[in-house]
Amino acid sequence: MSNSLFRTKKISNILAEGSDDTHGGGGLKRVLTLKDLTFFGIAAILGAGSFSSLGGAVFHGGPGVVILFVITAIACAFTAFCYSEFASRIPVAGSAYTYAYASFGELFAWMIGWALIMEYSIGNIYVAYSWSDYFTSFLQKINIHLPEYLSTSYMEVKHALNAGSTNADVHEAWNKAPIIGGLHIIFDLPAIVINLLITALVYRGIKESRNFSNVMVILKMIVVALVILVGGFLVFSNGLTGNWTPANDLGVRSFMPNGFSGVMAAVSGVFFAYIGFDAVSVLAEESKNPQRDLPRGMILSLVICTIVYILLTLVLTGAVNYHGFEGVGDPLAFIFEKQNLNVGWMQFFVAIAAVVAMTSVLLVFQMGQPRIWLSMSRDGLLPPVFQKIHPKYRTPSFSTIVTGFVVGVPIFFTDKTFVLDFTSIATLFAFVLVCGGVLLIPRREKEAGKFHIPFINGQFIFPLIIIGSLLLLYLFNHNYFNEISTFHLTDAEAKAAVAGLDISKPAILQNNLDAALTAKQTLNASTIIFWIICFFISILAFIKKYSLIPLLGLTTCMYLLTAMTSRNWAWFASWLFIGLIIYLLYGYRNSKLAS
Ligand code: ALA
Repeated sequence: MSNSLFRTKKISNILAEGSDDTHGGGGLKRVLTLKDLTFFGIAAILGAGSFSSLGGAVFHGGPGVVILFVITAIACAFTAFCYSEFASRIPVAGSAYTYAYASFGELFAWMIGWALIMEYSIGNIYVAYSWSDYFTSFLQKINIHLPEYLSTSYMEVKHALNAGSTNADVHEAWNKAPIIGGLHIIFDLPAIVINLLITALVYRGIKESRNFSNVMVILKMIVVALVILVGGFLVFSNGLTGNWTPANDLGVRSFMPNGFSGVMAAVSGVFFAYIGFDAVSVLAEESKNPQRDLPRGMILSLVICTIVYILLTLVLTGAVNYHGFEGVGDPLAFIFEKQNLNVGWMQFFVAIAAVVAMTSVLLVFQMGQPRIWLSMSRDGLLPPVFQKIHPKYRTPSFSTIVTGFVVGVPIFFTDKTFVLDFTSIATLFAFVLVCGGVLLIPRREKEAGKFHIPFINGQFIFPLIIIGSLLLLYLFNHNYFNEISTFHLTDAEAKAAVAGLDISKPAILQNNLDAALTAKQTLNASTIIFWIICFFISILAFIKKYSLIPLLGLTTCMYLLTAMTSRNWAWFASWLFIGLIIYLLYGYRNSKLAS
């Protein structure tokens, strides 16, 4: 018996468990080829991120968001290599949770499992909101109008009003909502209903297959290709290419109208669009040749989605000035509306396809969550009831119902921005631990036919990359070090923060100034911490001769984390704290490793 919080599970034990039936191993057939894995990757990646959060991302960063798509793709590609290394050593389902158990030990494994609730359940709240945006947009096309107060969330309306939004829908939702006991009754009804339906379906056990939706992927790809072709053609034929260098609030034209910080403000939306490639690793036990095909499948799906995202961003920001995307939850349909490119049949087609495509994403994630709880419960970290299987439907009934609540209840109290940020910060955290985990597990001899991260000694290269990056920043952006050490707003920043707002409302102006100041301070503080951590990792890399690819995965994911706001960190830290208490009160004592 071990009392350590960092007791690890031996890889040989995980492998032995993975091949017995109680752990979902054994019976699984190895049937999936590279094509299936790539399709599955695209199925899990392409969803609300491209159909929905892209609108908010380009609103913040303008056309320059394409740069962020490339940076994020690189971070994800390095991470995909690390997932593949783990998947090749521990080819059982369980993903990051299982990997952490073998490398960092139980406490971190629990924390990752706890953080994955964000990726799967809270991520699904975002997908439900996005589903609702397209669904209501589709209903409007067929002349059914849901009241605004039943198709948006309370917090979204409240935040928009506090920030002085002039959006007509926001004001309509607030003004027309019924009031009970002083409270405006505003909630996203379609998001609630779709969650109920999906939970019921998963509970009943639809004929699920994780290698499911090749058809779904083809449909998504057709829609996206049409948006790119039709939209791209119209951008050129209508002479709209000037939108690629739009003027910002201060009248300056640029590919990045709000500067690089505007682009970085879109990190959550952009990163969310990539979440899902890691899900490919859970198919390790069902692939014909996991060592060869898992990394290839992940990288191929990442490359395809990156190309799609870059083209989509260019089409969207070409079709409509980036300012026009404020509060737009269905950007792919929006660009074809009357006041924009005006293509009626595309609006209709995109709305239907988006609803179908996002339903599939909802299903995958809603089925994934109970599986993770199931493995945690089998390890003794959650009560046995999470393993309960429905006698007739053979589904994890209790875990499925809990998932329905975890997704459904917050729909009343959260908004899209909040859940998007929360999901992204938690998933990035899991990615950081997976990359760090690869550095910790012992190196091994190359075995023919197995995937190994190509070993490039980071001893000298990594510190050189860090020093080189700082040098380049100094040479090409003299002000960089000044900027990150200035903790107050410059005149230009203050002007930009209140540009376009009603000057007769000082409270709203102050609100925006405060928000801009907090955002700047958090960004600067996290950037400084980031460089300090890089310094320490360089020393470790030098001493321990760490492998370069995981080092780069670790640093690029940490870099993306620097864009999270103080509010995101506060919520995430509280979430981890609650997780820690639950672990100490329950998991620590009941863990299988404790006995
Ligand atoms: N990447 C997935 C989506 O965009 C989560 O829906």
